[in-house]
Amino acid sequence: MSLAENYPTEVKRILEKYPPGQERSAVMPLLHLAQRAAGYVDRHAVQEIASLVDISETEVASIVGFYTLYHNTPGGKLRVQVCTDLPCALRGANQFLEDLCSKLGIQPGGSTPDGLVTVEAVMCLAACDKAPVFQTQGPNGIEYHENMTVEKAMALINGFKKNGGEEE
Ligand code: FES
Repeated sequence: MSLAENYPTEVKRILEKYPPGQERSAVMPLLHLAQRAAGYVDRHAVQEIASLVDISETEVASIVGFYTLYHNTPGGKLRVQVCTDLPCALRGANQFLEDLCSKLGIQPGGSTPDGLVTVEAVMCLAACDKAPVFQTQGPNGIEYHENMTVEKAMALINGFKKNGGEEE
């Protein structure tokens, strides 16, 4: 899918916001547009955005990799992103992630068979003293869940599934 072909007005509007020589600043809104269109940022979008703002594909890909808000693989309607960075790991985050995935019958990074929920490990979410902690990205936007247990996380996920993929 080409952003320029499918969203010419949005692409033009985004690029016009930045003065000549500063086109690279448009990379974030263009990534946002690509993800909104496809649910994730695929390789083709990375190539196109790199070309639009005149930076390397590696730079664009590294931005996608750095920000937990961007995804380079397809996922469920609800993404459960568990912090497993060192401070959280010391508070049992890896075990939490493993147990949660085991309850759901998936591997970290995987999606439930109905395709609704993806669980993945991410880096620091700035709530290091409240692990296990995860953020959800879904129909309600971004929400943070601190001091989690597998039971509480499953209740949240089951509520989401019961609603047919809509958050309460
Ligand atoms: Fe997990 Fe900071 S290390 S929130």
